[in-house]
Amino acid sequence: MIDNDMSTGTGGFGEILVSSRSLAEYQAMFALTDDDLDRRILDCPGGAAGFTAEVSRRGGDVTACDVAYFGDGLEQVAATAVAEADRGNRYVREHADAYSWTFFADPDAHHRARRESAEHFAAHARAAPDRYVAARLPTLPFPDHTFDLVLSSHLLFSYADDLDYAFHYRSIVELARVAITEVRLFPLTPIGSSKRYPRLEQLLADLSEVGIRSRIARVDYEFQDGADEMLVCPVPT
Ligand SMILES: C[S@@+](CC[C@H](N)C(=O)[O-])C[C@H]1O[C@@H](n2cnc3c(N)ncnc32)[C@H](O)[C@@H]1O
Repeated sequence: MIDNDMSTGTGGFGEILVSSRSLAEYQAMFALTDDDLDRRILDCPGGAAGFTAEVSRRGGDVTACDVAYFGDGLEQVAATAVAEADRGNRYVREHADAYSWTFFADPDAHHRARRESAEHFAAHARAAPDRYVAARLPTLPFPDHTFDLVLSSHLLFSYADDLDYAFHYRSIVELARVAITEVRLFPLTPIGSSKRYPRLEQLLADLSEVGIRSRIARVDYEFQDGADEMLVCPVPT
């Protein structure tokens, strides 16, 4: 399966992509302010995103976790991140009509940004591997209330065909468990669709039953057509 980046197809995590979005994309997808970037952040899944590297360079405190980092996975993701960004860009070029060219002016701009982000990731993963923790949702290896802000992009909802309802529910409960103030998830639109995850209403009702409130917020970022909303779950105090 392929969407706006590339398919791994190997490594024990099926066909889910290991993509390399940048700090600028994270800021837009999650409406992050400068104050947000000063908070202790978890990026789950981190994939080959440049977010952790770029925020660390600003002096921030970010941990990325991903199933792809198990074993020698982190090294492998670092070694292939740039080539995979190239491969993903080839797909985007071939399917340019399926994307909204506002955040990226054109496929060349997408290529430059994803490549640069992959390079940031690879360099930082080698220099600071302790910032990249192997983890497999719906279970995370962190104590309760470890991170001020927990971010989750392009796994839940995106892969609704591969990840069942229970996985979505359990993963959000787990992300909320390790958060202190808030969990933000983006996008709410499955790959290949321009509409919200079909069971979103039920999911939010079930989360509310266990005390996890939520709201949907439109953000100033749309690449996949129709995917311009994030879910915000404030952690009960
Ligand atoms: C499309 S990437 C998103 C990466 C990053 N957030 C970004 O936007 O560039 C999806 C990631 O989810 C990871 N993944 C898949 N299943 C997972 C699981 N059960 N727990 C943690 N990570 C998982 C994959 O390894 C992949 O890196």
